[in-house]
Amino acid sequence: MANQWKRLKQPSSLSLSPSFLFLSLLSFASLFLFFFIFNTSHQTNSVKNKVLYSNSCNFTDGQWIYDPSINSPRYDNTCKEIYKGWSCIGSKKSNALDIVKWRWKPYQCDLPQFDPLSFLHRFRDTNIGFVGDSLNRNMFVSLFCTLKQASGDVKKWRPAGADRGFTFLKYNLTISYHRTNLLARYGRWSANANGGVLESLGYKEGYRVDVDVPEGTWAEAPRFHDILIFNTGHWWWAPSKFDPVKSPMLFFEKGNPVVPPQSPDRGLDMVLKHMISYLDKRMRPGTTVFMRTQSPRHFEGGDWDQGGSCQRSQPLSPQEVEELFSIQNNGTNVEARLVNQHLYRAFEGTKFHILDISHLSEFRADAHPSTAGGKKHDDCMHWCLPGLTDIWNDLFVAYLNNIEDRT
Ligand SMILES: *[C@@H]1O[C@H](CO)[C@@H](O)[C@H](O)[C@H]1NC(C)=O
Ligand SMILES: *[C@@H]1O[C@H](CO)[C@@H](O)[C@H](O)[C@H]1NC(C)=O
Ligand SMILES: *[C@@H]1O[C@H](CO)[C@@H](O)[C@H](O)[C@H]1NC(C)=O
Repeated sequence: MANQWKRLKQPSSLSLSPSFLFLSLLSFASLFLFFFIFNTSHQTNSVKNKVLYSNSCNFTDGQWIYDPSINSPRYDNTCKEIYKGWSCIGSKKSNALDIVKWRWKPYQCDLPQFDPLSFLHRFRDTNIGFVGDSLNRNMFVSLFCTLKQASGDVKKWRPAGADRGFTFLKYNLTISYHRTNLLARYGRWSANANGGVLESLGYKEGYRVDVDVPEGTWAEAPRFHDILIFNTGHWWWAPSKFDPVKSPMLFFEKGNPVVPPQSPDRGLDMVLKHMISYLDKRMRPGTTVFMRTQSPRHFEGGDWDQGGSCQRSQPLSPQEVEELFSIQNNGTNVEARLVNQHLYRAFEGTKFHILDISHLSEFRADAHPSTAGGKKHDDCMHWCLPGLTDIWNDLFVAYLNNIEDRT
């Protein structure tokens, strides 16, 4: 299948995005299986297989255009995979039907809506895995609901450690979602009565993050999937969970604490480095891997736990985007662009393709569930479905179309 692919154009922009996420991520907190310590030692020679880029379109450089002729969404709230809090049509968010009438128009080209039937044909006998936090699940659900409109004959199952997955039986195309917040395995840590290096530095409680051990939910995914889409980011900037004082992240490498203890952003760098090595060793030949950039949040007037909201009915203007997201302004949602700096640095020169959804998403303050999310606080982090992540999938397909055979 790789043979038909043309070369990938990477819209290289080092910028974008935001967030702290957490909101509903919190609800998954109970799933942490932190206890097993299996020792996968994957070191490695990292991949230095440079992808060549063409001079084609910069997909991230464009604008949103309101197109009233878009009359019906590509799927609706009857798609059962849509998590309730994201079903803005179902919860009657006032602009729910308007959200999908905005079209992303790159200045140098068009970003067409992908055709689900052609997709099913083209990716017959293919496995596609989404690996990451709930924002990757949001994108996975969008892809599922779109494909399901074209072919309803699906089997629900959980391949290779997945949280959920489906096979489109007529095409033998499997897509699945592998839940992981940090990519690395982590779990609660507390001081040992017998002491230790962290104890001697005064640490009492925290989270142990094994930077060189992939979380079990996706450890087998590289052997199973032909195409992988990763993300991580929101949880690294989540002081309400990983409180720097009360419950800091404590990084371990080869089973030993990293000393001196490092900040979360350094931990992210370590995890990304090990993850690239791990994939380099485990992936089957011909596998295509994407790192999706950070999904921006749009809390205004405070963070999610401080009454922040996103009561917009239209996309932001370019000026508003800069105000909300520029690193200099250091606003509530600044972490999006910060996360992306780490991602771009880590993946430069690797065989990962960067799927950059950040900048185009920065405009879409109107496309979150907001008060319709059914939570005590506004959800300005996840996206209404149908909605923005449908466009992410258009971009994903456009990238696949641009990837050329890499031999
Ligand atoms: C693509 O567009 C974005 C957004 O305007 C810009 O930041 C980036 O530098 C562009 N990339 C290239 C390679 O021109
Ligand atoms: C379905 O696709 C997988 C590869 O993803 C392949 O291993 C398997 O043989 C296919 N099954 C059939 C019945 O063709
Ligand atoms: C950004 O703002 C936060 C508080 O909102 C503060 O803790 C942090 O030090 C600021 N960072 C910079 C680089 O100014």
